[in-house]
Amino acid sequence: MRRVTVPIPDRSYEVVVGSGAVGELADLLPERARRVAVVTQPGIPAQFTDVVAHVPGLEVEVFEIGVGEAAKSLATIETLMSSFARMGLTRNDVVVGVGGGMVTDVAGFAAASWHRGIPVVHVSTSLLGMVDAAIGGKTGVNLPEGKNLVGAFWQPSGVVCDLDALATLPAREMRCGLGEMAKYHFLTGDDLLAMELDERIARCVEIKAEVVAADEREGGRRALLNYGHTLAHALEIATDHELAHGEAVAIGLIFAAELGLELGRIDEARVAEHRHVVAGEYDLMMRPPDGLDVDSLVSLMHRDKKALDGLTFVLDGSNGVEVVQGVDEAPVRSALSRFLA
Ligand code: GLY
Repeated sequence: MRRVTVPIPDRSYEVVVGSGAVGELADLLPERARRVAVVTQPGIPAQFTDVVAHVPGLEVEVFEIGVGEAAKSLATIETLMSSFARMGLTRNDVVVGVGGGMVTDVAGFAAASWHRGIPVVHVSTSLLGMVDAAIGGKTGVNLPEGKNLVGAFWQPSGVVCDLDALATLPAREMRCGLGEMAKYHFLTGDDLLAMELDERIARCVEIKAEVVAADEREGGRRALLNYGHTLAHALEIATDHELAHGEAVAIGLIFAAELGLELGRIDEARVAEHRHVVAGEYDLMMRPPDGLDVDSLVSLMHRDKKALDGLTFVLDGSNGVEVVQGVDEAPVRSALSRFLA
């Protein structure tokens, strides 16, 4: 079993990574907790949802939320709040989110909101959740007006990444996780490809933990975790979410590399490294689907949450990956035209 600490001052917590890691869940719950509200989804195996059901002295209730982005809503939060009220959940108690990124985002936001904040522990059952969503305390839900518009930073008290959950993960969800994982290959000089999957996941968690501890509320450095995401977010909207997030990130990483080349920040060999990781190692799509046009993608990229001054990208370069504000439209259009051709 591997253990990674997310070293946020006063609120540091452990992430346990490994096969059978869910067996450690009981030890991650706050000692004073008497009630556990498990938030999960239909289809998550009982070996992950029921693990604390028989712990003596704990009253455990399991609440299932809907599947899909539409269920990541304030209505779901309201239903959970009513369930917490009926259960008599207090500030001494704990919410446990068991599932992929959507579940842990919702469970985290419910925990952040209930009685103005109670502890939450996540059991991440998807690769994307393990390397990204369950770590770092971003929680929230969607509005009809956009994704993740309502939320809070609310750090968990512990996270479990049980690799046994990956054995039954649908292929598309696995691909989405690999899309997020691919970005970590370019955030440090580590050779992630030389690592076995458990070590690689733990290293991704460690990289994210270090970035989050340095900039919990995304005042600067945390935005590096959005490498590949500027085009990815635009692609998700332009395809009406036909492209899932991790699939779009994989394509966004290749575009970020090609834009880096266009701007003279990196050379062709570095772009080839991006292609090797994304397509060669992870077998992910590198090109967007047909039918998209430069104008609408550029206009969507202007709406990116990171954009404070014109177009904003996270770009690779001689100083490593960094956030670049105010990128000129001309090179972006030129790289994008070639990319879509
Ligand atoms: N998913 C990026 C972050 O947690 O900041």
